Amino acid sequence: MDTLDAIFTRKSVRNFTDRPISRENLETILRAGTSGPSCVNARDWRFVAVTDRETLLKMAEANGRAADPLKGAAAGILILGDLDRAFPPAKDYWVIDGAIAGQNMVLTAHALGIGSVWLGTWPQMERVEAQRKLFALPEHLVPHSILALGYEDGEAGGNLRPPKKEEPWTDFVRFETL
Ligand SMILES: Cc1cc2nc3c(=O)[nH]c(=O)nc-3n(C[C@H](O)[C@H](O)[C@H](O)COP(=O)(O)O)c2cc1C
Repeated sequence: MDTLDAIFTRKSVRNFTDRPISRENLETILRAGTSGPSCVNARDWRFVAVTDRETLLKMAEANGRAADPLKGAAAGILILGDLDRAFPPAKDYWVIDGAIAGQNMVLTAHALGIGSVWLGTWPQMERVEAQRKLFALPEHLVPHSILALGYEDGEAGGNLRPPKKEEPWTDFVRFETL
């Protein structure tokens, strides 16, 4: 699958089969996370890849019902911002850097035939604090998002979110001036 195919065919996947993700594929996805741009090349992220079922369940619980897809996922990736590495005059760029890393991983997973859904964490501070506690994180590492990953179970329905609105892309775009 080329890059454009990956971008245009990606969708959130919330129901997964029992098939595990190979270590090689997981490492490819994580490497993709570290391959995006970051502000002043701060590389102010950290990733925790989890395949242990019990930990996945605890992560799901910590984020609340919207994170239910993690319960059946083959893996979860907790994306963290590393404030010690963030650009000192404007540390908030860590949020952008984390999002870029997440999207790189989502697209790479899709290109490998692995489904995923993004689970929002920051800036919902109760989720941030619950993940912080679960992973006993030091102060400078801030939970950003979680990706639930696995092979799509085409049979299972029940997406947590309604199907996305399909406004044409041209609704969002103007040329030269708004
Ligand atoms: C920042 C962010 C947070 C999200 N949080 C959740 C979530 O907690 N649970 C969930 O099921 N989907 C979550 N999603 C997935 C969106 O619901 C999904 O991307 C959107 O409905 C568009 O559908 P698509 O991904 O299939 O294009 C999140 C997406 C983003 C970008």
